[in-house]
Amino acid sequence: MFLNSLKIAITRRINFPRFLSSKGAKRVAKDDEWEAEVTRDREELEDCLDSEASKKCEEIPPKLKTVRVYRWNPEIPSQKARMQTFTVDLNRCGSMVLDLLINIKAYQDPTLAFRRSCREGICGSCAMNINGTNTLACITKISPDDKPLIIYPLPHTYVIRDLIPDMGHFLEQYTMIDPFLKREDKAYPPGTRQTLQSPRDRKKLDGLYECILCGCCTFSCPPYWWLGEKYLGPAVLLQAYRWIIDSRDTGHKERLAEMRDYYSVFRCHTIFNCTKTCPKGLNPGRAVAQVKRLIAGYAKKEEPDFPAEETYIDPCTGEPQIKC
Ligand code: SF4
Ligand code: SF4
Ligand code: FES
Repeated sequence: MFLNSLKIAITRRINFPRFLSSKGAKRVAKDDEWEAEVTRDREELEDCLDSEASKKCEEIPPKLKTVRVYRWNPEIPSQKARMQTFTVDLNRCGSMVLDLLINIKAYQDPTLAFRRSCREGICGSCAMNINGTNTLACITKISPDDKPLIIYPLPHTYVIRDLIPDMGHFLEQYTMIDPFLKREDKAYPPGTRQTLQSPRDRKKLDGLYECILCGCCTFSCPPYWWLGEKYLGPAVLLQAYRWIIDSRDTGHKERLAEMRDYYSVFRCHTIFNCTKTCPKGLNPGRAVAQVKRLIAGYAKKEEPDFPAEETYIDPCTGEPQIKC
């Protein structure tokens, strides 16, 4: 235990900015936050390790797994990007790749940086490249074989540090498609009554609304690697399609017109890397193809089952439904 703490302290001394040139109180505050996070992780893990089940594990021989992780720290410019090898006892670690990274951060190298939040495939922050596939670390099981686990940040992204990619441009592109309901309703301005949607129309959003914007598909898309500045990529196009076909949205013509150019949509070559990699099992490749068909005029958005201008009878009062 003492040796472990010593090792952590030495690693910190070498790598952590607090021991490099001091840049003032702001950085110290950041260090404290970081330290609190590592302590919390370690306490959580120790709670697990104190459990009865875990004590039984101590009698079992260790099951060691080699992990090679991409490391790069912009605060140490003299050190080039490299792969660092760790060995973790799988009997003393959770079953997912994210558990393994948390274990490394808590016990071996607290300077390892990666994003995570929900730990159950909902927030999309732990997207990374694991053994050659873009996926979410929190829902990827550690394979029990002897092969090393190789972890990189999402490919073709600018790296902020270690496994943290810069998602700035990706999210900027997301804002460009206006990801919100646009509704021109002269008879009933927004807020004057409920906006109804039939079950059939609602079904059209299945397979689209579940997207968590993790970016795994976009950063596995070859045209996006080369033309990402202008091509919107599968995740953003899936989101665009989600709003275009929503029966309550009346802005689809404007949305399609915005994307009618050489780059935004038509750089997709229907390779379907995106669909293959999506950790949520969605089909962004199909969504891109549908957007292309709508822009090219081969498909048309269906009229909604409940048109905006019609009067609906309130099933409870029998009166025309005006107020929500
Ligand atoms: S479509 Fe799938 S891979 Fe792409 S951003 Fe959404 S959830 Fe992630
Ligand atoms: S189908 Fe289109 S969007 Fe999907 S990976 Fe291929 S080129 Fe990219
Ligand atoms: S931590 Fe939220 S998706 Fe993995």
